Amino acid sequence: MVKVGLIGAGAMGATHARTLETAVRGAELVAVSDIDTARAAAVAGTGRIHNDAQALIADPDVDAVLIASSAETHEEHVLACLEAGKPVLCEKPLATTVEGCRRIVEAEAARDRRLVQVGFMRRYDHGYLELKRLLDGGAIGTPLLVHCAHRNADIPLPFTTEQAITDSVVHEVDIVRWLLEQEITAVSVLAGRASRHAPDGVRDPQVVLLETSGGVLVDVESFLRAQYGYDIRCEVVGEEGTLELPAPAAPPIRSDGRHSRAVAPGFEVRFAQAYRDELQAWVDGMRLGRATGPTAWDGYVAGAVTEACLRALDSGERLAVRLARRA
Ligand code: NAI
Repeated sequence: MVKVGLIGAGAMGATHARTLETAVRGAELVAVSDIDTARAAAVAGTGRIHNDAQALIADPDVDAVLIASSAETHEEHVLACLEAGKPVLCEKPLATTVEGCRRIVEAEAARDRRLVQVGFMRRYDHGYLELKRLLDGGAIGTPLLVHCAHRNADIPLPFTTEQAITDSVVHEVDIVRWLLEQEITAVSVLAGRASRHAPDGVRDPQVVLLETSGGVLVDVESFLRAQYGYDIRCEVVGEEGTLELPAPAAPPIRSDGRHSRAVAPGFEVRFAQAYRDELQAWVDGMRLGRATGPTAWDGYVAGAVTEACLRALDSGERLAVRLARRA
């Protein structure tokens, strides 16, 4: 049994705690830490509560650490896990700065084994896996374009234009690299008319244009207050046809003169299967001594691309993405 310690018991931490306890084989939640101890207590079950994340990482009864605390704490916690030699699954972003991501990549490279996995759970979503299988099998020939949309029904205030990129578009950055097996080489960010539901001064929706090393153009619509539901779309256009991401099955409803299907209310529902399989793969990898899934390098690249997007947002220019040499 892998004994897991959880840092951060907010929305994502609570989802992970529930998934670990109810749906993942071979693991148990033994400790939780949150600066809000009431939140920690609400998800800990029979596990211990640590007031300090560093104490949880040092706890000899914790084999592996799941980090779902606020983004600005990730680097410190991941580096402490590496120092302690403990496997860690860190929610995105790996760190809030490109330099922070590099420090983690370097700290892990200095050890004798891989310990870090980054929480890009879409790579485990059945729909994306099927899309990749078909794409790799040549079903639509060479990919030319990808159209993505990332729509939330609403997100709580306060939120900023930048957060749409660092919190939402970062998922598209990772999944497009994974799907196409190409790097993102240049970015542009455009905003048109803001929705009346956008807070003052926030550019919502906005469109991010990514260019890849293979010449594929990827447009990403980011819309945080789309009102109607949580809707993630991805269509790959190839030389011989197109492939579209299926949403998880929802039964058609005929009622009140309409024929409809429900749209997921939020990420917890839309990606429930992916979160479950992500945690299961993490636990299985530890039991087999073979880490899998998105790496610290993937976290670094996602950080470098989103940082370029933030600069493109400020300057209004198309900017090249510069990556460090991979160690
Ligand atoms: P949240 O604000 O609901 O929860 C964050 C929690 O971290 C809070 O309970 C806060 O008290 C705690 N915290 C802050 N500093 C801490 C520290 N030093 N030690 C221990 N706990 C600390 O935020 P949410 O939405 O749960 O997001 C958490 C992380 O998960 C973020 O990095 C976010 O980007 C990521 N996330 C990932 C998603 C995905 O689909 N993979 C979806 C939603 C969030």
